[in-house]
Order: sequence, then C-alpha cells, then structure tokens
Amino acid sequence: MNKSIPEIVFATNNPHKLEEVRAILKGRVKVLSLGDIDCHDDIPETADTLEGNALIKARWVKEKYGYDCFADDTGLLVDALDGGPGVYSARFAGDHCSPDDNIALLLEKLQGEKNRQAKFCTVIALIQGDKEYLFEGEVKGTIAEKHCGTAGFGYDPVFIPENSNLSFAEMSPESKNEISHRGRAVAKLASFLLNS
Ligand code: IMP
Repeated sequence: MNKSIPEIVFATNNPHKLEEVRAILKGRVKVLSLGDIDCHDDIPETADTLEGNALIKARWVKEKYGYDCFADDTGLLVDALDGGPGVYSARFAGDHCSPDDNIALLLEKLQGEKNRQAKFCTVIALIQGDKEYLFEGEVKGTIAEKHCGTAGFGYDPVFIPENSNLSFAEMSPESKNEISHRGRAVAKLASFLLNS
C-alpha cells in the first residue's frame, strides 16, 4: 500500500534555504513555502537566541495559519569575535544590510587575526499538533581571507568547512548539504518526521 508523503510548512522567506531543504527532503516530505499558504507576514526575529527565533517563527505560522510547521535560525559564531555575530548574523553590518556588507565587516574585523576558527549553527523548531521539538546542526570551519566562489548565499564565500579546501560557495549544493549545519539539522528533522 502507498504511504502518502507528509506535508509541512517551512517558515522561511529565504528561497535558498527552501531549495536546500526541499532537496534534502525530496520524495520523503512535501515542503510548503510561506507563499504556498498565502502567508506574506514579516515574521519578527526578536529573540536573543537561535532557539528563541526559530520558535517564534514556527509558533507564528502554527497560531495564525494552523499548519504544522518548522522554522530555522542560523548563526555564524566566530571564535575571535567571542562567538559573534551569532544570533545577529543577518544584521551584523546593520539593519537591511546585504550579505556583501556583512562579509566586508567580518573580513575587516578579522584583518590580521590568526585565529580564524568559526562554526555555523542551525536550530530548527518543529511544531506538530500541540508539541514542539528542537533539532540542531553545526559545522566547524575557518573564515577565509577573501571571497571564494559564487554559489550558495550569505557567508558561504568566506566559510571553509573543516577537512575541505573549498568554501561553501565553491561547492555543489549536494556537497554543501552533506556536511552543512542546516543539512545536519534537517537530517535529524527528516528522521524524526519519517519515523514518528
Ligand atoms: P537566518 O537563519 O536566515 O536568520 O540567517 C542568519 C544569517 O546567517 C544570514 O546573514 C544568512 O545569510 C546567514 N546564513 C544562514 N545560513 C547560511 C548558510 O548556509 N550559509 C551562509 N550563510 C548563512
């Protein structure tokens, strides 16, 4: 007997993330976008932790639209910046700044710095019925001295994952997903969704 594919909303407006997550869950879970459920809200991200922001976004969709859903929040944690920009990674160079502005500020702050260790952390909050679950994924790496590659998004051109010579922006989407923070968190989510 055919088992129907479960449907779930991914509460993000980031088309890159949607594409990454759909590729990872392909054929196993149907991932609906906010547009698919006619949600065009500017969902706030006002918490001071990744968990807090992921929960705000997932609860927003569940409470206002009634769908089971998951949301992620990601931060780049740089050792030499005491774990910054962390939860403030999107607004590192100021409100409404571009990814290039953020990268420029990061490279400026790390100029001459020998310790370039960093990690990406993703927290996914899932709301299923009246239950909430959290899944985490991280990848360690280093911050490059300059932009390398054009694929991906955000800080990808300056993040070199451990055991690699390539930045995330020089990898195929499949290679990035295999080892990335989000790939790891989504793998945990997928195994939960498919086994529950
Ligand atoms: P958020 O999870 O969308 O709030 O992401 C926070 C910040 O991290 C934004 O500046 C994103 O562009 C960046 N970011 C999130 N995920 C990735 C990634 O996989 N690669 C590079 N940058 C990312």
